[in-house]
Amino acid sequence: MRSLINILDLSTEEIDRLLNVADDIILNPKKYSEVCRGKKLATLFFEPSTRTRLSFEAAMYELGGNVLGFSEAQSSSASKGESVADTTRVVSCYADIIAMRHPKEGAPLVASMHSTVPVINAGDGGHNHPTQTLADLLTIRRNKGSLDNFTIGFCGDLKFGRTVHSLITALARQKGIKIYLISPDELKLPSYIKKDVMKKNAIEYVQTTDLESALPELDVLYMTRVQKERFFSEEEYIRLRDSYILTADKLKNAKEDLCILHPLPRVNEISTDVDSDPRAHYFDQVLCGKYIRMALIMELLGIHLDEGGKE
Ligand code: NCD
Repeated sequence: MRSLINILDLSTEEIDRLLNVADDIILNPKKYSEVCRGKKLATLFFEPSTRTRLSFEAAMYELGGNVLGFSEAQSSSASKGESVADTTRVVSCYADIIAMRHPKEGAPLVASMHSTVPVINAGDGGHNHPTQTLADLLTIRRNKGSLDNFTIGFCGDLKFGRTVHSLITALARQKGIKIYLISPDELKLPSYIKKDVMKKNAIEYVQTTDLESALPELDVLYMTRVQKERFFSEEEYIRLRDSYILTADKLKNAKEDLCILHPLPRVNEISTDVDSDPRAHYFDQVLCGKYIRMALIMELLGIHLDEGGKE
């Protein structure tokens, strides 16, 4: 029994295989439409979500399986004081696999220690979000043809943005990656990630507050929302929320094959006039999120199809 809590729980070879399966699902969805018949996914969401929860559910339905769960802590026994450990033990009796989102860092890890079925971290506080990273990697590979040798800029809330933390951790294992960290001083990437991930893997990086001067250098731009729910002060949030707004006008100096990503939801950080630019790939990223979660569910349930599409 295996869980996905941190993106490093998967080797680069395993990630490549998952991306290959996702590519195959995109080409041959019918081949996969019954592989999870009789299996149940539980989505335990203690924090708001649109994409992650619904894409997990859509993924399981498209594999022929079923879904149960809750979408807010208030409607679960957590509101009566039940621990994550007990909730997980209970849900393991009903479901074959669990996807959990929780505001507390480490909650899905605790869940995985008490579960008898695989647990997937669907976002834990300001920490990690490995399945968004898989979606990001699939989008980048489909767009650039490879996960090596490109320059990526992360822009916005690098302090609390869990999608940023997980994607940087994944990219640090690739070859020829250069990173621009673009944020206000108050929202810089946590120093533990700089030290344990970037410096340890000798990743070349530039830290700046200036999006416009970095933009012409980038092959991929990863915009992020300022994570309002992680701020202690409303005033501070209001001061920082509009630090960066990507507009069609600013993109004039960017590369022609720039790939613009955003895990979504966006608030103001990408103006809607960018949406029709062929370099905008954040809605493709949403679709990739569903296909890669299909591949991941299969992997964690031990379902592998051979070349001919039989189990
Ligand atoms: C992200 C998250 O929840 O961390 N959203 C997502 O899962 N696609 C990003 C965000 O909320 O800003």
